[in-house]
Amino acid sequence: MLVTRSTLEAIAPRLEGAACPEEVFGLLAGQTPEKLAALKSVQRGLTRACHPDLAAPADKALATQLFQSLGIWEGIARLKIENGTYGDFQPYRAPSPPYTPVELVVRGRALKLTGLIVEGTFAGVHRAEYEGEDDSQRAVFVKIARSAGDNDLLEREYRVLKGFQQTDPDPDAEDFLATQRAYVPCPLTSFSLLDESGAKHRANVLSVPQGRCLTAETLRRDKYPCGIEPKHVWWIFRRLLLTIWMAHLKGTVHGGVTPDHVLVFPEAHGLVLLDWTCAAKIEEEHVPAINPAYKAFYPPEIFRKEAALPATDLFMAAATAIDMLGGDPGKRWIPSAVPAALGEALLSCLDPIASRRPQDAEAFHNQFGALLGRRIYSPMLIP
Ligand SMILES: Nc1ncnc2c1ncn2[C@@H]1O[C@H](COP(=O)(O)OP(=O)(O)OP(=O)(O)O)[C@@H](O)[C@H]1O
Ligand SMILES: [Mg+2]
Repeated sequence: MLVTRSTLEAIAPRLEGAACPEEVFGLLAGQTPEKLAALKSVQRGLTRACHPDLAAPADKALATQLFQSLGIWEGIARLKIENGTYGDFQPYRAPSPPYTPVELVVRGRALKLTGLIVEGTFAGVHRAEYEGEDDSQRAVFVKIARSAGDNDLLEREYRVLKGFQQTDPDPDAEDFLATQRAYVPCPLTSFSLLDESGAKHRANVLSVPQGRCLTAETLRRDKYPCGIEPKHVWWIFRRLLLTIWMAHLKGTVHGGVTPDHVLVFPEAHGLVLLDWTCAAKIEEEHVPAINPAYKAFYPPEIFRKEAALPATDLFMAAATAIDMLGGDPGKRWIPSAVPAALGEALLSCLDPIASRRPQDAEAFHNQFGALLGRRIYSPMLIP
C-alpha cells in the first residue's frame, strides 16, 4: 500500500508536535514486557503510515523526516518504559547520578543524609535519618542553603516554625495549636556547613509525618492531569485554611502558598504546608521573594512589596485550589464540572484588592464547610 500525502500530513503533528512519547504512542497498558509489546504494535502501524519506501517520489522527503522522528520517539519511549516513568506525560529525564550518603554529627547526634528529594532554587532538600534512633512516626529531612547569601531565608523559616511550637498562654489557642502543629514541618535543629571556600551554609533539620505523600503540584501534574476531584480539593483546601489560620494567629503570613509547597498525604487525609522561608509578619513585613514559576498565584500586593496580610495567603491558597481542580488561577478559570458554589467561593479570594477578599481563614473555612453539603471523607485512592 502506498503512503499518501494526506496520511503523512495527518500524522505529522503527532510526531513533530509531541512533547513526550506518550503523545505519540498513547498510554500503554501493563508491566514493562506488555508495554514494550504494545509499543511495538503501535509503532508498526505508524511505520506503515510513513515508511519512505512506500511513499510517492514527491512525498519521500516528508516521509523520511517523519520516519526518522518516529524512530527517535520510539527510543525515548523505550527508555521511559525501562525506567518506569512511561505514562507520566513528561519528557524523558536521565536518571540522576547515584547519591553518596553523608554522615554528620549534629549536636551530638549522628545524622545521615540518605537521598536528595529535590534540588530547589534556594536549597537542596535531602532525606535524612538519625542513626540508631528508630522513629517510625516522623520522616526527617534537611534543607541546606545553596548559597550562603540565602541563609537568611532559612533562618527565617526556622524562626517561624519554632514559634509555632511555643505553648500559647491562651488555652483555647493552645488547644487549636496542639492539633494544628501536625500540618507544618517540625523544626528539630539547625546547623551550618562549611564549603571549600569557607562560606557557611545554613541547614534546617525538619520533620513531617511518615507516610506516602505527594505535593499538590505532583498530584495534579502526574496523577490527575485534568484536575483533582472537587471532593478531595475541598478537604485539602479546608486543611490548608486551618494551617494558614494557625500562622495568622501567630502573626505570620506564609507568603508562598503554591502547589509545590502543599504536601498531601492522600491515604491519611493529611497535609503539611512546606517552605516557610518567605513568611512575613502581618502588616509589618513584605514577602521577601517569589517563585517566578508560580507568578499567577501571587496577589498584586506582593509585587508592590506591601506589608503582608492574611488575605494574601487566602489569595494564594485559593489559587492553589483552583490549580488542583484543573483550572487556571491566572485566567480566573475553573472547569465547569466544579460545583458552582465552590468555584465562586474560590474566585472571591482572587480579588486583586485585598480588602475585598475574605479576610479570616477560620471563618472562611467554616463557611466553606457547608459548600459541598454534609460529606463523609472518602479515601483518596490515587491512580
Ligand atoms: N518533606 C518533604 N517531602 C517531600 N517533598 C518535599 C519535602 N520537603 C520539600 N519537598 C519538596 O522540595 C521542594 C523544595 O523544598 P522547599 O520549598 O522547602 O525549599 P526551597 O528552598 O524553597 O526550595 P525552592 O526554592 O525550590 O522552593 C518543595 O517544593 C517540595 O516539592
Ligand atoms: Mg520552596
